[in-house]
Amino acid sequence: MGVIVPDAVEHYLAELNTAGNPVLDAIAAGNVTRGLPLVDAEVGALLRVLATAIGATRILEIGTAIGYSGIWLARALPVGGMLVTMEFDEERAREARENFARAGLADRVSVVVGDAQLKIAKVSGPFDLIFQDGDKTLYTPLLDRLVALLRPGGLLITDNVLWDGKVVPGFSTGAHDDNVDTRAIAEYNRRVAAHPHLLTSTIPLRDGVSISVKTS
Ligand SMILES: C[S@@+](CC[C@H](N)C(=O)[O-])C[C@H]1O[C@@H](n2cnc3c(N)ncnc32)[C@H](O)[C@@H]1O
Repeated sequence: MGVIVPDAVEHYLAELNTAGNPVLDAIAAGNVTRGLPLVDAEVGALLRVLATAIGATRILEIGTAIGYSGIWLARALPVGGMLVTMEFDEERAREARENFARAGLADRVSVVVGDAQLKIAKVSGPFDLIFQDGDKTLYTPLLDRLVALLRPGGLLITDNVLWDGKVVPGFSTGAHDDNVDTRAIAEYNRRVAAHPHLLTSTIPLRDGVSISVKTS
């Protein structure tokens, strides 16, 4: 549970969310003890709704981990659609491929192993939707490249933009709140808000999700 949405509301939303499947449930259950920083099912459902709403056929994800958010995204793709998802950690990427196969999605997912900052230069657009959920200090350095890879009308979705409230002046009083990630996300939020090609709304769901449409 995060600190943005009260626990009772998160439980209520979780009970209403019927969009999961057994593979997603198994990953989430296994992650209770493991503690990887995966999106939760409510953010997953949001990703799937948005990808479905725009009829996405090409999706790019930065930060695969073990494929949890990727499964939510890839389930929105039609046959012939493609999710390209990038992961630095070889073991996580291997596990993600297994999870995509278990979910019956191996035919529409390409897991790229390596540093997204380097790999992104070799990817060809356009993409209908890009989900940014990798290293927080890379959010701003990747921003203009990701916007260039999006089609006009496409969506750039970014997770953790409220960072447990640490980016919000006066909200959090933790001793180590003003760290490199907090500053990186705060800077990213400012850049996205002022970006000449993006129109953005931020949803205070879980850890904060920004949704930007490429306007031109
Ligand atoms: C927050 S997790 C992704 C969670 C995943 N999107 C989900 O919700 O299921 C971030 C992932 O990005 C990966 N990562 C960090 N830096 C990266 C980089 N430079 N290039 C590619 N992946 C990176 C980490 O290894 C980690 O698995």
